[in-house]
Amino acid sequence: MNISYLIYNLFHNRFSLKMWKLELDASRKKTKLRHCHVTDSGKNNTITIGEYGLISGVRFFTSGNNNHITIGRKAYCNGSTQQPIRLNACDGTSITIGDNIILSNNVEIHTTDYHRITNDNGNVLNKPKDIVIGNRCWIGLRCIILKGTILPDDTIVGACSVTNKVYCESGTIIAGIPAKAVRTGVKVGDLGN
Ligand SMILES: CC(C)(COP(=O)(O)OP(=O)(O)OC[C@H]1O[C@@H](n2cnc3c(N)ncnc32)[C@H](O)[C@@H]1OP(=O)(O)O)[C@@H](O)C(=O)NCCC(=O)NCCS
Repeated sequence: MNISYLIYNLFHNRFSLKMWKLELDASRKKTKLRHCHVTDSGKNNTITIGEYGLISGVRFFTSGNNNHITIGRKAYCNGSTQQPIRLNACDGTSITIGDNIILSNNVEIHTTDYHRITNDNGNVLNKPKDIVIGNRCWIGLRCIILKGTILPDDTIVGACSVTNKVYCESGTIIAGIPAKAVRTGVKVGDLGN
């Protein structure tokens, strides 16, 4: 990395030290990071990305302590500056994404609702929850993956869908708001038609 580029971006608050470390780690693992951004407030927050990935236009966000964002090997994250992918892990939660996954542009993954809902006794009803996305999943463009979502291996999520629960059957297309199974017995093929 060009040091003057780094200093320029640090000065203009476009490039966190965490991002710099992530770039160095990623290049060791032969993973390409393009137009990514890290916003980190808190302690013991980690971002881990596996080997041979192409991670483009991802905005990593952690708030609070002990949040962990993990992406497995050979990930293809197809965001851009204009159409970013947002991975937000807050309040001690994790986003765990498997190997060989595809995240399309404008996908948003949030482990929290950011605002609390309480009942009459003051108990919080919408606590933050971890999110898990299995191996070989493809998340279509503009999907929103909400707290508590668990997607098994080989899940395809149709464009503009919203997920918010534990899905059990692998090899399934789920779609809609909230996403429901529309086809079973599938897996993601190669790029193109
Ligand atoms: C999920 C998807 C791959 C399914 O394609 P397909 O296998 O050809 O499936 P079909 O179009 O036959 O749809 C099957 C059923 O699911 C429904 N469905 C498909 N996609 C849906 C979506 N995004 N939201 C809601 N329902 C959807 C269809 O209406 C159909 O329902 P029906 O049987 O009641 O008529 C496709 O619809 C899709 O969303 N593609 C995403 C493309 C994308 O994000 N590309 C990113 C490039 S980086």
